Amino acid sequence: MSTTKGLEGVVATTSSVSSIIDGVLTYHGYDIDDLADNASFEEVVYLLWNHRLPDYEELQSFKKELADAAEVPEAVIEQMKSYPIKDVHPMAALRTAVSNLGLFDSSADETSEEANRQKAIKLQAQLPTLVTAFSRIRDGKDPVAPKTDLSFAANFLYMLTGEEPDEISEKAFNKALVLHADHELNASTFTARVCVATLSDMYSGVTAAIGALKGPLHGGANERVMKMLSEIGEVDNAEPYIKDALARKVKIMGFGHRVYKNGDPRAKHLKEMSRQLTHITGETKWYDMSVKIDEIVTNEKGLLPNVDFYSASVYHSLGIEHDLFTPIFAVSRVSGWIAHILEQFENNRLIRPRAEYTGPDRQEWLPIEKR
Ligand code: COA
Repeated sequence: MSTTKGLEGVVATTSSVSSIIDGVLTYHGYDIDDLADNASFEEVVYLLWNHRLPDYEELQSFKKELADAAEVPEAVIEQMKSYPIKDVHPMAALRTAVSNLGLFDSSADETSEEANRQKAIKLQAQLPTLVTAFSRIRDGKDPVAPKTDLSFAANFLYMLTGEEPDEISEKAFNKALVLHADHELNASTFTARVCVATLSDMYSGVTAAIGALKGPLHGGANERVMKMLSEIGEVDNAEPYIKDALARKVKIMGFGHRVYKNGDPRAKHLKEMSRQLTHITGETKWYDMSVKIDEIVTNEKGLLPNVDFYSASVYHSLGIEHDLFTPIFAVSRVSGWIAHILEQFENNRLIRPRAEYTGPDRQEWLPIEKR
């Protein structure tokens, strides 16, 4: 038996949801660059789940379905209020709340195509409601009910702040959602597929995926990028800070990638958004600092920024609290998790690899008094 640490390079399934080929990311064949520049997030979700873009009527009715499903059971919100609000990370809160949602869905364990579609709509529509409700509850505010006439992106920002966003913020947030929606067999998506391949339910698959996304080597990196930028504080401090970190072999969050070795195609979009948004807020130092760090890490280590690096200054410029960055990743990526879960169900086989045993040879049982 031979092993590959971290399953690097192992092709574990076939999938038609998204591809990374020669450094180009596509969602079902559509280049991420075209989607980032043109698509609404709702269009992308439709594409991921239906393997084609919607026409006008289909998009309107899909948007309505999502908007109508955005309210979560009151009991789930009430239980959130009993979480140890001040200490709990919003990703941990989201993981628990999504699991909780499953308790209030009487069709959670139904496996028909229609039941799965309904659950998909609910999960996609309700994650934003959970994330924003938790954020407001811990700030001592009441959750804001979703507005059915807003886009998915605008509604998230509305439920977070209680105010409808301006067009620039809505567009920027929409683009960020599009860029994070799917990414082939990343760690959280693989987790979701492993979970539902036991024929467990969609809520379990998404809950498991949230747990995987939470880690700093995956989605948790974006929050840590902002922590690093805040610690650095000013552009002039960037060089000594980063060189010292590299000398101590500390990983610089937001750099490197298992699959992309010549750059993450999503990063350039987020970089440009960061440039534009920081100019609007007047806090250009976050962009300037990021560019400086980018130069140093590229020169010193040959590592390029990934999706998480510039998204930090983008979300910060949109006025979003830093520990909500990873939950926002989940709000988008749940679309991809669901697409993969549906694909797994279509042609399922239990995912059960082997391990190469490295423990001792057979040992003799010793009664407890002789150990
Ligand atoms: N900063 C500094 N060094 C890094 C690095 C980073 N961000 N990413 C990788 N490296 C170095 C490792 O230390 C290792 O060096 P070594 O061979 O001298 O020990 C080498 O590059 C290979 O790294 P490894 O962690 O084995 O690569 P991987 O393919 O397993 O991991 C990531 C990929 C993304 C997990 C990794 O690049 C990382 O931890 N990045 C920071 C977290 C992050 O931004 N995650 C979001 C990913 S979208």
